[in-house]
Amino acid sequence: MSRKKQSHQETGTNSNLFKVAEIREVEPGKRKVVLVNGTEIALFNINGEFHAINNRCPHAEFSLGAGLIYEDVVICPGHAWTFKLKTGECITKKSQPVKTYKVVIEGKDIKIKL
Ligand code: FES
Repeated sequence: MSRKKQSHQETGTNSNLFKVAEIREVEPGKRKVVLVNGTEIALFNINGEFHAINNRCPHAEFSLGAGLIYEDVVICPGHAWTFKLKTGECITKKSQPVKTYKVVIEGKDIKIKL
């Protein structure tokens, strides 16, 4: 698993859609942290379905991309706050969700909409 951060350029005609990886780079159960327009985003593959959330935990900014994945949630490596990957909901503290991003698959590419 590579956690190397990469910066990405805009692609196509949709100015808010950024290619962040190819599908083969993020296998089921894996994740990748990417940098898009200065924002760290953690991309997760859960059983072939991709989810993207802000990489920085709203509690104390530990990397959620380094967290433990359990079913469809990620557990922050900082203090174990737990977030739903689909919605960004914080199960530990409801008032502190993490931002989610729309993931678009185009051919072999994974793109994120900002
Ligand atoms: S930094 Fe994530 S739970 Fe504290």
